[in-house]
Amino acid sequence: MVYAALCLLTLLLVFIPPGLTVTRLACVFSAACLLNFTAFYFFVHISERELRSIRKLINLIRKNKISSPEEIVLPENLYDLQEEIRAMYLRTQNDIDYLKKLERVRTEFLGNVSHELRTPIFAIQGFIETLLDGAINDSKVNMKFLGKAAHHTENLNNLLNDLIDISMIESGEMHLSFRYFRLIDLIKEIIPELLPEAEKKNLKLIVNPFDEKLQILADRNKLRQVFNNLILNAIKYTEEGSVSVIIEADESAARIMIKDTGIGISEKDIPRIFERFYRVDRDRSRAAGGTGLGLAIVKHIIEAHSSKVEVRSTILGGSEFAFRLKH
Ligand SMILES: Nc1ncnc2c1ncn2[C@@H]1O[C@H](COP(=O)(O)OP(=O)(O)OP(=O)(O)O)[C@@H](O)[C@H]1O
Ligand SMILES: [Mg+2]
Repeated sequence: MVYAALCLLTLLLVFIPPGLTVTRLACVFSAACLLNFTAFYFFVHISERELRSIRKLINLIRKNKISSPEEIVLPENLYDLQEEIRAMYLRTQNDIDYLKKLERVRTEFLGNVSHELRTPIFAIQGFIETLLDGAINDSKVNMKFLGKAAHHTENLNNLLNDLIDISMIESGEMHLSFRYFRLIDLIKEIIPELLPEAEKKNLKLIVNPFDEKLQILADRNKLRQVFNNLILNAIKYTEEGSVSVIIEADESAARIMIKDTGIGISEKDIPRIFERFYRVDRDRSRAAGGTGLGLAIVKHIIEAHSSKVEVRSTILGGSEFAFRLKH
């Protein structure tokens, strides 16, 4: 109503006879006010409409009723805001997906850990109960059962050590202490410790001759762990032939390679073997006391040395694990 009356007043203004200056001026003033008011009215009106659509959209997002950014639509003149909200929605969605994934990984990790702990604990429990039930007095089996229980205790201990390593590494608590040392000294310490494992399987453990003066920059203890894991793997997954340690140096780096003539790894499994708890042949690995953490630890350690592990392997054609370190 008010709006219509003001419009009428504006029309009258146009038909006021010239000469009535004061009246005319008053009318011009009224018309200006009217126009201002009209403009203001439209402005407020549109803002409210926009606000309503924004509020509606926020409610939809809050109630989780939006399932894709395309469902976020605002009036055309709010295109920039619409795009901003779409981008925000996508970012939040990505954060939520990431948190869900973390939650899944955590649950999976806990499941794997409990499963791996259960295996040796059940075995130890079984042997001890059998011994307590009378087998302790049977000289034919008592030492054998005790030996098996001790073997599983060792597996349990290895698993716990690996878990501690993984959790230290992944929580960023692994501190490396880099220094130069002669690679040959480390190799001379490691090989005699691992030789009995190779001999048990009639495998040759060979270190190809290399420059004995070669010094590398690395964390000695962590590198020892890498050699241990890779050489033990090579022995574990090789039935006949040899395991070789090959070291070559160029101007800036030493290339270290552990090569075996074992069962090999299929192309599809190679990208997964560095995942925690991943084993190509679960039963075979478990029978050998493996939990699938060794290569995950190796990968972390080598990456902490700003390098990466390269794998070349074919089924029945043996495997090569290699990495470079500064010297
Ligand atoms: N040299 C190798 N030849 C063939 N397969 C290998 C070799 N090294 C690793 N693998 C495969 O990769 C998997 C993962 O290796 P990883 O060292 O992480 O675990 P594991 O040896 O099974 O157990 P763990 O090292 O924790 O005792 C192994 O289970 C095995 O299937
Ligand atoms: Mg291993």
